[in-house]
Amino acid sequence: MKKIVAVSTLALLLAGCNPGDQEAQDNSKTEQANKSADEKATSDNEKSDAEVAKEKEAKEAAEAKKEAEAKKEAEAKAEAEKKAEEQAAADKKTADEKAAEEKAAADKSAEDKTTEEKSSDASSTEDKAEDKSTDKKEDGKTDSAQDPEPAKPSKPESETPDVDKSNTKADLSLGELVVVNKKYSLPIDYKPSDLVVPNVSFSYSGVLEQSYMRAPAAKQMEKMFADAKADGVTLNAVSGFRSGSRQTVLYNNYVARDGKAAADQYSARPGHSEHQTGLVFDISAPSVGNGLTAELGDTKEGKWIANNAAKYGFIVRYDRGFQSRTGYTYEPWHIRYVGVGPATQIKNNGQTLEEYMKVGH
Ligand code: DAL
Ligand code: ZN
Repeated sequence: MKKIVAVSTLALLLAGCNPGDQEAQDNSKTEQANKSADEKATSDNEKSDAEVAKEKEAKEAAEAKKEAEAKKEAEAKAEAEKKAEEQAAADKKTADEKAAEEKAAADKSAEDKTTEEKSSDASSTEDKAEDKSTDKKEDGKTDSAQDPEPAKPSKPESETPDVDKSNTKADLSLGELVVVNKKYSLPIDYKPSDLVVPNVSFSYSGVLEQSYMRAPAAKQMEKMFADAKADGVTLNAVSGFRSGSRQTVLYNNYVARDGKAAADQYSARPGHSEHQTGLVFDISAPSVGNGLTAELGDTKEGKWIANNAAKYGFIVRYDRGFQSRTGYTYEPWHIRYVGVGPATQIKNNGQTLEEYMKVGH
């Protein structure tokens, strides 16, 4: 028996195969396979987690990016809106400034119109007076210094006078008798030192450059207005002192509108206007809408002025039919202070100031 076992073991040994080892080997193989499968499964699981994590990370990154982009976009939008608001505010400011400038220009233009003097085109004046009837109060006064614009003369009284370009200096030492006309001019910046606002009724509210006049003339004008009122005649002051620069603006406007030849018949060139002496006032009456119109000469007020002004030292400087002797068309509204004596003589003799002073025009 011992021998059989030994043989059998030997056979097995020779076969190189131990039944216990085989089993162990098989077991080991299985374990290995299992381990490998587990490892694979584990590895698979691990890879999946990583991917998930990676995906999560990518997703989060994408979300963060999206969020950042949205934030950036919102900021850009807010910035654009802010800019638009600023631009709108700037535009509004510009528009407001423009409107203010336009209003200032319109006010200035209205004021300029008042200082302008009208030629002898009565029908045109009537039309203009009607146009502005809405601005007028009962007495024909205006809130602003707005008056009819001077019209281009339809019928020059006679020949168009020459405009003397010699520019002879006006003799200011003559005082109230100074002659300023197409021939004699004042320095463009001349301004009398004794300008005051006469205490009379005006055709507009407020005080402007044109409200002033030299003191001695203003005193006489006050008397004249008071006496006229006592006679039942209502007068209104329209335009007195006018600076050389204002005359420049007015004259240039007239030339642009009517041409030089026409403008020279009713408007003085810069430095050549009597208004700059401070010895002149344009006056009118509610009956003609306070207009500077030839029509004034035919009204009760215009006739009162022509008949009585000399008593106060004033002459109607550019009388009817005097264009060839003064250089200007008829202006019943433009009264010039020369003093009572000279005014009376000039009136009684039917003279012009130039003829009285024996100088050219
Ligand atoms: N209308 C007068 C002539 C002036 O401009 O002074
Ligand atoms: Zn005048």
